[in-house]
Amino acid sequence: MQSEAGEGLHVAIIMDGNGRWAARRGWPRVAGHRAGVAAVRRVVERAPELGIARMTLYAFSSDNWRRPALEVRSIFSLIAAYLRIERERLKEVGARLEAIGRRDRLPRLLLREIEQCESATAGGRRLHLRVAVDYSSREAIARAAAELVGEGGMHSHEALERGLAAVLHAAGGDVDLLIRTGGEKRLSDFLLWESAYAELVFTDRMWPDFDETDLEAAVVEFRRRDRRFGGVPAANAETAAMAAELSGAALRTP
Ligand code: IPE
Ligand code: IPE
Ligand code: MG
Repeated sequence: MQSEAGEGLHVAIIMDGNGRWAARRGWPRVAGHRAGVAAVRRVVERAPELGIARMTLYAFSSDNWRRPALEVRSIFSLIAAYLRIERERLKEVGARLEAIGRRDRLPRLLLREIEQCESATAGGRRLHLRVAVDYSSREAIARAAAELVGEGGMHSHEALERGLAAVLHAAGGDVDLLIRTGGEKRLSDFLLWESAYAELVFTDRMWPDFDETDLEAAVVEFRRRDRRFGGVPAANAETAAMAAELSGAALRTP
């Protein structure tokens, strides 16, 4: 399912490069994560004005558990602090916060902040802000599939695909634009299903340096792209329609 015209863009961001940003300054990695929080504030404030209705931010991947325990703990407390400090501001902005990913392995304090922020901002209509914490796209797809199979009726792969599309669409919908900062060009298990036709923008900018202008530039780049969804380029569509008409006419010719 593609997002409908006029309903606003779904932008997903892999916020990468915090560690290197800090290392270049001779600072500990956690200083980079702290600086990254300011970048989150900047993009959240700017997003609605750029026609972004939904934004999914990759804050902590399930594979990030491989990092030193101290770094993991620091990231969780920064996320918790962000949710606590920004709660009122998110309400003012009209943002509805939702955490995606596993919740069963998160520290209790973080879980509480997530739940409080989610309920405090539940009425937000301008921006659906999804923060991915302990998130793995493969795990999310597998879980959705297991639920559908458990419910029964998924006897064909078509039915399963339709079911999965419905479940994942209800959860967040297709990504229009996926941005990764920090110079790497990979998805790192983020929104694999939802990004089937996402436009990808990679930037060398480290996440703590990312600002409103960079977000705007990515959206401008997105608007320049010709999304085809397997069809023909928009410029050729008219020609293609004429060709189809002609071949139809040829078939009809006795
Ligand atoms: C992204 O920055 C933030 C998280 C993964 C939590 P990194 O911490 O991956 O920064 P680099 O890639 O090491 O520079
Ligand atoms: C992806 O970044 C996860 C987040 C940004 C939260 P990583 O830095 O963990 O990804 P890899 O390990 O370089 O693929
Ligand atoms: Mg990284």
